[in-house]
Amino acid sequence: MSKKRILSGMRPSGRLHLGNFFGALDNWVRLQDNYECFFFAADWHALTSEYENTESLKENTRDMFLDWLSAGVNPQKSTVFIQSKIPEHAELHLLLSMITPLSWLERNPTYKEQQLEITNKDISTYGFLGYPVLQAADIIMYKAHKVPVGVDQVPHLELTREVTRRFNFLYKEIFPLPEPILTEVPKLLGIDGRKMSKAYNNAIYLSDPPELIRQKIDQMFTDPQRARRSDPGDPEVCNVFSFHRIFSPTEEVDDIGSTCRSADIGCVDCKKRLISKVITFLGPLQSKRDYFSSHFEEVEDIIETGKKKAQNIARETMDEVREAIKI
Ligand code: TRP
Ligand code: SF4
Repeated sequence: MSKKRILSGMRPSGRLHLGNFFGALDNWVRLQDNYECFFFAADWHALTSEYENTESLKENTRDMFLDWLSAGVNPQKSTVFIQSKIPEHAELHLLLSMITPLSWLERNPTYKEQQLEITNKDISTYGFLGYPVLQAADIIMYKAHKVPVGVDQVPHLELTREVTRRFNFLYKEIFPLPEPILTEVPKLLGIDGRKMSKAYNNAIYLSDPPELIRQKIDQMFTDPQRARRSDPGDPEVCNVFSFHRIFSPTEEVDDIGSTCRSADIGCVDCKKRLISKVITFLGPLQSKRDYFSSHFEEVEDIIETGKKKAQNIARETMDEVREAIKI
């Protein structure tokens, strides 16, 4: 039986952090064995809000691919490509835009939220409103069955399904209705206890060198009630402890929990243990990253091969689409 198809993408915004890893990448890597996967850099989507600021787009795409590969996205198993290299996405986006009622886009919660939140740039553009239509084109181009995304993307997936249903109804039943595969809410917060985000300057990056990891973890907040070393702590309110839950083996997590409560371990030691765990975890990723960044021609080959594979499928799909629309 042939494997079901998965497609997912990320906007290239530069190097990836631990939040991106546990919120998405890690999941992609696991899905590769059971699905035929397509992963792409959504550089046109990045343009919807960064159209004034395109200098770093190429470098950001490069950094993102290095992180994907170092985290275990395997080009032998999965197809990786860049959205803007497959102009068929733009054609399908245009055709879908003809059948997408404005009201569906205007009521999109992400759109409404971002209109309020993003105040430093003008996103009242045609392109930004159409963001989910382009996303729908990305997905159905490959007739993907499943789309691994975070909860924030669920409204976009719902819109994809509605537009797809409308296409199938108006023209021809060409596309399966894609379903989300929800990635768990990331358990990792930033070093300041807020959501880990590049914008908040609180992230630990996959490519951070050991010394920087040490400095960042040293700055992390612990249980605010634990003022002195002799005070018992409450691991449940401590961000360092949530990191241990991810990076340390269960017995050690239990041990840290109870020795924190009994004041037998101090925060300095607790952090030291975490630092060595995180450095050890990232070591193999970083060696792979170093390898690929000094053999970047291999990465270029991978992207070129991915482009060809994606484009073959995209061309076939567009032939079917044009025929269905009779254009
Ligand atoms: N909107 C997605 C995000 O911000 C990126 C994206 C674009 C995407 N096209 C996609 C994700 C298609 C999944 C499928 O994360
Ligand atoms: Fe947090 Fe560890 Fe300090 Fe307990 S000992 S408060 S878990 S850093």
